[in-house]
Amino acid sequence: MDRFNGKTVVVTGASSGIGEGIARRFAAEGANVVLAARRKERLDALAAELGTQRTLAVVTDVTNQEDIESAVRSTVDRFGRIDVLVSNAGSAVLKEFEETTLADWRFTMSTDVESCFLGAQAALPHLKLSRGSVINIASASGLGGDRRLTAYNAAKGAVVNFTRGLAFDLGQFGIRVNTVAPSLTMDDQRATVPEYGALIERFNERRALRGYATPADIAGSVTFLASDDARFITGTVLPVDGGITAASGQPNLF
Ligand SMILES: NC(=O)c1ccc[n+]([C@@H]2O[C@H](COP(=O)([O-])OP(=O)(O)OC[C@H]3O[C@@H](n4cnc5c(N)ncnc54)[C@H](OP(=O)(O)O)[C@@H]3O)[C@@H](O)[C@H]2O)c1
Repeated sequence: MDRFNGKTVVVTGASSGIGEGIARRFAAEGANVVLAARRKERLDALAAELGTQRTLAVVTDVTNQEDIESAVRSTVDRFGRIDVLVSNAGSAVLKEFEETTLADWRFTMSTDVESCFLGAQAALPHLKLSRGSVINIASASGLGGDRRLTAYNAAKGAVVNFTRGLAFDLGQFGIRVNTVAPSLTMDDQRATVPEYGALIERFNERRALRGYATPADIAGSVTFLASDDARFITGTVLPVDGGITAASGQPNLF
């Protein structure tokens, strides 16, 4: 598949997990891929594996405006354009609300939401030229509440509605903006760890599909939304969650 030949895609949080999966998929479909995160050695290793001709590793802290602006400059210096921005970097603090500090709240808001704002602002001049697209990675936790995740619920909910608003502001430039909302996602190796196996079973009780999503599953939905097949889709939230957000919330009745 070569849907993204000649296109340049920036992926934040590309040093592991879902972001790495997204970067791999865009690279496999012909894109130039810019890998942005803090852990240089992981980015360099992935860039080497994918081929340094069409990848660029840029050490970036997404909570830092200068870092994001510099990553965008480096992208354009190297590849001349930006067609897709995937704001995937994110983090959660798992705590009772009573124990959640203002620092926890600000950390989560900064990493999960402000990063999407900063990325879109920095990339905008280039997305206008390419009539490109933005994909923000939210979460099922942005579509409802969870125990011990108030800051994350707030942050991912904000990502979802930021996406909707941004779709309206950028539609005039032919730029589309969408959200993918994963639920439990892990690679097959992690799923073999007993602790995660037990977690998967708990999720199975609440979902239509059994099992778990892998980073490749999330990547497939991201590349779809970035592709011409989605040319009239904007402002949407695509849950990739095995049906967990389709549930009424009632426990299994028998
Ligand atoms: N996995 C799931 O079950 C799941 C479910 C729903 C939603 N999500 C969302 O999916 C996204 C990816 O999650 P994941 O599970 O793949 O997590 P992960 O494996 O922990 O990866 C998080 C990525 O974000 C990067 N990152 C974190 N803080 C950063 C910062 N300040 N600056 C730059 N990069 C930063 C990390 O890179 P460095 O450490 O190298 O900076 C890493 O590449 C997140 O937004 C998460 O909220 C995940």
